[in-house]
Amino acid sequence: MEQKFKALRVDETSKDQFEFRIEHKNIQELPEGNTLIKVEYSSLNYKDALSATGNRGVTKAYPHTPGIDAAGIIEESDSEQFQPGDPVIITGYDLGMNTWGGYSEYIRVPDKWVLPLPKGLTTRKAMELGTAGLTAGLSVSGLLENGIKPNERIIVTGATGGVGMISLLTLSHIGFKVIAFTGKEDHFEYLRKIGASEVHLRDELHEHNNKPLLKGEYAGAVDVAGGNTLAGILKRMQYGGVVTSCGLVDSPKLETTVFPFILRSIRLIGIDSAECRLHKRKEIWEHFATDWKIELPEQSITESTLEEVPHYIEKILKGELTGRVIVKL
Ligand SMILES: NC(=O)c1ccc[n+]([C@@H]2O[C@H](COP(=O)([O-])OP(=O)(O)OC[C@H]3O[C@@H](n4cnc5c(N)ncnc54)[C@H](OP(=O)(O)O)[C@@H]3O)[C@@H](O)[C@H]2O)c1
Repeated sequence: MEQKFKALRVDETSKDQFEFRIEHKNIQELPEGNTLIKVEYSSLNYKDALSATGNRGVTKAYPHTPGIDAAGIIEESDSEQFQPGDPVIITGYDLGMNTWGGYSEYIRVPDKWVLPLPKGLTTRKAMELGTAGLTAGLSVSGLLENGIKPNERIIVTGATGGVGMISLLTLSHIGFKVIAFTGKEDHFEYLRKIGASEVHLRDELHEHNNKPLLKGEYAGAVDVAGGNTLAGILKRMQYGGVVTSCGLVDSPKLETTVFPFILRSIRLIGIDSAECRLHKRKEIWEHFATDWKIELPEQSITESTLEEVPHYIEKILKGELTGRVIVKL
């Protein structure tokens, strides 16, 4: 294919100085892979911002095109599973980390990273969810698989962010009582409107942190924060409580005692969306297309052009975003 296409490139101009450019590329410049996809939508996740600003734990070499999520249409594939014209989703694996990612009108990837778009979702809807949605879905699934029943009281942290908001919407959709924790006092009303039974300031979870256990008020939790937030959650779980941990917006450190585990039989479940098995991804996306079909509130979705992505990267790094940013290619 001769035609040129647009991609966002990040380059290291001098040590630890990074610059964004929109470049016109040829298909031949894309990395190896047996499946070429015309991207319709991508989305913005915290990891994209890290990749775009030189975090070597995420991306080792520059110039680079970030974007850990993409949804689009198969252009070419030698896989028996896909035909040109099929709508598909790709999230995680190495996409946008050390492999050319979704902030590009075309991507080329191995077919084993590609999922057929379930009936009932569009490429846009899939990217409203994106990696944040998959992570929220895995967290909800972690609670259900470990015996937590609808109607029980579940903590969700980072409730105005991507993973938190989608967890809140999904859990309340299937009948849980969601106790949302947020740092944004001006979003209490909004969080109640979208399904939270109660809303609290996240600092409350840091109170009495010198005590090993507190009153067990919650059956489960979806935590995106780690650090003292997660430590505070563990000591507030009732007997047999289940806590999922996917993030580190508070801190990657976790200082706790064993008491929640040995006196209350609490389970702490780790969540990873990047390398999660294909059958599990399929299961979660199927849920989002059927029994977990949720509508994200319109005001929680920001649509960005490729050119505007650097602006939103700056905002997500400063913690100024709420909800989800989708990128239209
Ligand atoms: N394990 C995985 O596979 C996986 C996948 C996706 C994301 N993640 C991780 O999950 C976390 C959330 O991702 P996201 O996409 O939802 O990010 P996001 O959209 O930026 O949302 C993060 C939210 O966390 C809250 N927050 C910010 N600083 C905090 C602090 N110091 N303590 C407690 N809460 C704080 C804020 O919400 P409030 O103001 O409402 O509290 C913020 O909106 C990140 O750490 C990300 O790396 C992990």
